[in-house]
Order: sequence, then structure tokens, then C-alpha cells
Amino acid sequence: MSKSADLRINDQSYSLDIITGTEQEQAIDVSNLRKESKFITFDDGYGNTGSCESSVTYIDGDSGILRYRGYDITELAEKSNFLETCHLLLYGELPTADELGLLEQRISKFANLPDEVLSTINALPSSAHPMAVLSCGLQALGGAFPELATNDRKKDIENFDDAAALIISATRSITASRYRHQHGKPIIPSDSSKGYCDNFLSMMFSSETGQSGVPEQVSNALDLIFLLHADHEQNCSTSTCRMIASGGANPFASVAGATSALWGPLHGGANMAVIRMLNEIHESGDDGSRFVESAKLGKSRLMGFGHRVYRNYDPRAKILKSACDDALEALGVSSPILEIARKLEEVALQDPYFIQRKLYPNVDFYSGIILQALGFPTDTFTVLFAIGRTPGWLAHWREIALTGKKIHRPRQIYQGSNLRSYTPLSER
Ligand code: ACO
Repeated sequence: MSKSADLRINDQSYSLDIITGTEQEQAIDVSNLRKESKFITFDDGYGNTGSCESSVTYIDGDSGILRYRGYDITELAEKSNFLETCHLLLYGELPTADELGLLEQRISKFANLPDEVLSTINALPSSAHPMAVLSCGLQALGGAFPELATNDRKKDIENFDDAAALIISATRSITASRYRHQHGKPIIPSDSSKGYCDNFLSMMFSSETGQSGVPEQVSNALDLIFLLHADHEQNCSTSTCRMIASGGANPFASVAGATSALWGPLHGGANMAVIRMLNEIHESGDDGSRFVESAKLGKSRLMGFGHRVYRNYDPRAKILKSACDDALEALGVSSPILEIARKLEEVALQDPYFIQRKLYPNVDFYSGIILQALGFPTDTFTVLFAIGRTPGWLAHWREIALTGKKIHRPRQIYQGSNLRSYTPLSER
């Protein structure tokens, strides 16, 4: 097969290299096109643009495939857990028992926040969204550990193991501490005898005596949600993280920026939007059919449906749909909005509008229902997504730090005013 592509512009030919990925995906390399031709490529929203070569995650959206470091998401969901998956993403391999023990040790060492970080997050306005708090908290954390956040790439790489464990640990503590503070409750210190999710649930909800009483199924369901969110290649927030890292910024700043990017309702914020939508449908007495009709007319959007990459199904949604049934059964919770979600899915999947546009439930469609059943307030859902996605962001930070050569800097096609002269204020 040809290893190059020919591009013809105004009678001039350019030979462009073809890059082939390990799963045989093909890309035309335009890195030198502007230098040779003065043309740039244009791809609004980057839907056809590969921004990097990466060894972290592979997605085949047409076939509904998602793999972390070569492992299929379904197998990981069944056999692994969030902390093992963190190691896999960060370092490329599943951990040995010793490596896992070391990661656990580092994570528990950093579980309680320094006082200055606590006072920073508690000083934010009470109306600040948990995502804003998390982003600020991460920057404050970098400030509290300046030796781990130097913006000197060599040093930041040397200290990456500690920085990564600290960030993975602190996303949890920042979320729990702020939640307790907002509800006028004392902070519950980390208990290193507990697993990552158990400890988090205890820091959030346990009574002041420190007894969490969290059923195993609850922490398992949360662990699964974190694992399923742990990476998703070059999405909006991960690209943001890589963009920030490409300029040489430390992991704390890069993950704080990625957190802000995740916040929006078209990205991580969709899990909150799904619950709001389901509640509204429930309160209006609709079983979902009317809402689907209004989405088809463009009057509303079926949140938790559609994905830029998956055009067949989102494998994470499939896993979560059955986990949702199990978790609700284990908790003995009945959810009227789960019935509505099922009905919406059933109606939409048979409707030509959704079939033609290849719109299927995405990971956010069922995750919110589980999180609600687990007792999390709706405004923390996106933060929980961020906690899960943190190892992925860090893996991409490390990849850029170890292999990235250039600062990321896209170009544009300028469509504004031509040169004009300044008009003094008095003449305007
Ligand atoms: N409900 C109704 N119609 C939809 C939906 C939806 N959820 N999603 C897309 N469409 C329609 C669009 O109106 C458009 O129709 P048209 O061709 O008649 O104009 C067509 O499908 C294509 O839509 P785009 O917005 O161009 O698709 P894109 O790939 O840019 O967007 C996105 C993907 C943002 C996820 C979109 O499907 C969406 O807004 N979904 C709802 C929000 C959501 O669930 N986001 C979470 C994504 S997963 C994640 O980040 C974890």
C-alpha cells in the first residue's frame, strides 16, 4: 500500500506521508504542508484531525471499541479496579503486587489536604460549583507542594510519581472536604485502612464517629464508574491537558485546566444534565415519548445521547446500564427516572431520527442514575467524572512531558476586518 498521498493545489503537487497506527488507522501527515505550500488544513472542531501519536488509549468508534493500553474496557471492568487501572494508564502496564502497594501507599500518604489548600477551597463563594472548587483546589495544591510543580520539565518528570499520587488522592479529598464544609459538617480525615472508593465515601458521608457502613456494592459501583471514565483519548478535556502540558506547565496546572474543560454540559457536565432532564420529564408526567419528539424538532437535546466518536454504541454505556440495575437492586432503591431513561432509550433507538444520525446512549446516560442512588448530590456528578478521568489526564501529561517536542499551537483562517485606521474616541 502507498505510504504517501499526493495533494494537488493550483497545478503544484505535494507528497504527504501516510502514518499508520498499530490498529491500522491511517492519517495523512500535513506537518510540513504550510512550510511547503503556504496552505493550512481547516477542520472546525478537529473532528478529522489527529493532534498527536499516543500509546494510552485506543478507540474505534464505529465498532464500539475502547481499550486502555491495549486492554479491552469490558475485560478491565470485569476483572480490574480503579487503582490498578490508574497504574496501567500512568505507566503503561498493569501493576505487580509491589507496584500496586507502592501506589496505594503514596495515595494514602497524600490523602489529607494541607491546611492552606483547605482554607483556599473553603474561602470560595458558597455558590461556587464543585468543578470550580476542584480546579482552584488543584492549583492551590501545586502551590502547597512547589517542589512537585516546578514547570521545569526535568524536575516535574522526576517527581511525577509523587505528583500523580497526590493529585489522584486529592481530587477525592477536595471534593469531600468542600462538600462537608458546605453542609456545615466537620471534615472526616482519611482512613488509610480503607480502599480508594471506600475511603472517599467515608470522607463524604460517614457519621462523625467515622463509621461509614457503606455496602460493598456501593463502593464497587463507584469504583466501576471511575474505571470506565479513566481515559478517553483526545477528548475536549484531555486535549486541553495536553495543550497546557505542551507549554511546559506542571501536572497540577494541566489537570486544573482539564477540569475546567470537562465542566461544560456537552462534555462531563452531561451527567448532571441527564438527571435534570429525566426529572423534568418525570415531573411533567411524560413517559419520555413527548420529549423524544421535541428533541427531534431541535427544541431540546436528549442529554446522554450521541457522541463525537462512537457511531454504533458506547461500550461504557452498555456496562453501566447493567451495573445500574445491579446497584439499584443491591441498594434496594427504586428509581422512577430509571424507568424514564429506559423508555427514552427504547423509543430513541427505534426512531429514524436517532438511527440516521447514529445517536446512542453515551457513558453519561446511566452514570447519573447510579450516582444519585449512591447518595451523591447532582452538582457533584461532574466532579466524580473528573476524579475518574484524573489518571488519564496525568498519563497524557506524562506522555507529552516524555515525548512531546513542540508547543501545541493551531492556526486559523482569519475572517475579520481588513486593516483600518484608528478613530479617536471623540469621533466615534
Ligand atoms: N439529541 C438530539 N439530537 C442530537 C443529539 C442529541 N443528544 N446529539 C446530536 N444530535 C443531532 C444534531 O442536532 C445534529 O442533527 P442535524 O444533522 O439534523 O443538524 C446531528 O445529531 C449531529 O449532531 P452534532 O451536534 O453535529 O454531533 P457532534 O458529534 O458534534 O456532537 C455531542 C456530539 C456533543 C456529544 C452531541 O451528541 C450532544 O450534544 N449530546 C448531548 C450531550 C451529551 O450527552 N454529551 C456527553 C458526551 S460524552 C462525554 O463527553 C462524556
